[in-house]
Amino acid sequence: MTGKIPATLDVAGLRKQFSVGRPAIDGVSFAVPPGEIVVLLGPSGCGKTTTLRCVAGLEYPTEGTISIAGRIVSSPAQGILVPPRLRDLGMVFQSYAVWPHMTVRQNVVYPLKHRKTGRAEALRKVDEVLALVGLSEYAERPVVALSGGQMQRVALARSIVYRPQLLLLDEPLSNLDAKLRLRLRDDLRRILKQTGMTALYVTHDQAEAVVIGDRIGVMRDGKLLQMGSPDEIYNRPADLFVANFTGATNELTGTLVERNGAFGVVDLGNGQRAEAALIHALGPGEKVRIALRPENIAIGKHDGSNSFHARILDRRYQGTQTIYDIDLFGRRLEVLELGTAARHEVGVDAPVSLPRTICWAYRDEGPLTNQ
Ligand SMILES: Nc1ncnc2c1ncn2[C@@H]1O[C@H](COP(=O)(O)OP(=O)(O)OP(=O)(O)O)[C@@H](O)[C@H]1O
Ligand SMILES: [Mg+2]
Repeated sequence: MTGKIPATLDVAGLRKQFSVGRPAIDGVSFAVPPGEIVVLLGPSGCGKTTTLRCVAGLEYPTEGTISIAGRIVSSPAQGILVPPRLRDLGMVFQSYAVWPHMTVRQNVVYPLKHRKTGRAEALRKVDEVLALVGLSEYAERPVVALSGGQMQRVALARSIVYRPQLLLLDEPLSNLDAKLRLRLRDDLRRILKQTGMTALYVTHDQAEAVVIGDRIGVMRDGKLLQMGSPDEIYNRPADLFVANFTGATNELTGTLVERNGAFGVVDLGNGQRAEAALIHALGPGEKVRIALRPENIAIGKHDGSNSFHARILDRRYQGTQTIYDIDLFGRRLEVLELGTAARHEVGVDAPVSLPRTICWAYRDEGPLTNQ
């Protein structure tokens, strides 16, 4: 698709205080470079939708600056607040938001009519965007005769047909059943990449964030905890909350006894020691929590640092993978092994390895609450 140059989105020091409660957004700053998809990921109530609505101009920020393509659209300090219709952006919501009494084509052409696009050009643009979302054969069908996934494609087509400089998507897949959601999330990324549009995408689903985002920003309680590539978020979570929220369900506590550059030796009690990657700047004597993903622990082999013995306590075969509970120094850890065979017997002692690069050590600030 040809069209306008995608915009940069800049959000700096954004704060939103509603009339009640603590701030819904509390000093959030990030940028979305042209053509990039940034996903805001976080649990319910962390401020994702409010951030998106501030960018759209549907919510008035309390503080901070929002710029689209270098133009300030919102800045309370400077008395600037550009209305939504003058921000040149498209929005896709959780609910399908299509016109039920119209056909697919009528729905998609609607924003162009509104913008007084010529008939021939409008036809061409609609055909192009329907092909992009895979609905060419459905053009003349009333939208009520479509599946949920197809309706959401119509909503998407309608938001991108006029090529806004920025696209905002708020949990667009969450009304679909699980199977459809998986299929559409792959399609959605492909479609967005083909348009080359700058997009800000909101979800509470970490698997969706990883598939769709070029970068992911993890939010909690109105704050942006980490912004990074999916790989960084997964393989070097900035804090314990990010590690937990993206699936590191195991934790070991101990005391740092020695530092060796980016790694350290942690005393886990009873004379047991393990090496860990120091994510926080920690010093000897500090209490630490080590987060570990079940899929990063290997049973059945000794491999480099942190090779131990553990007892298999339980196993849950799930067809394409098996979950084991193991006892390591009296602590129960979960291990996930891919493959259709459950290879380890309950009750046996087995070698396990926890490579130090996948043992992330954080300052111990007490157990996490409000997850
Ligand atoms: N109009 C409002 N008045 C007062 N508080 C609000 C208002 N809208 C949102 N909030 C509060 O702001 C916080 C952030 O809400 P927001 O809708 O941005 O969360 P979210 O991350 O999108 O959550 P979800 O995943 O459930 O959609 C919540 O604590 C919410 O209760
Ligand atoms: Mg929301």
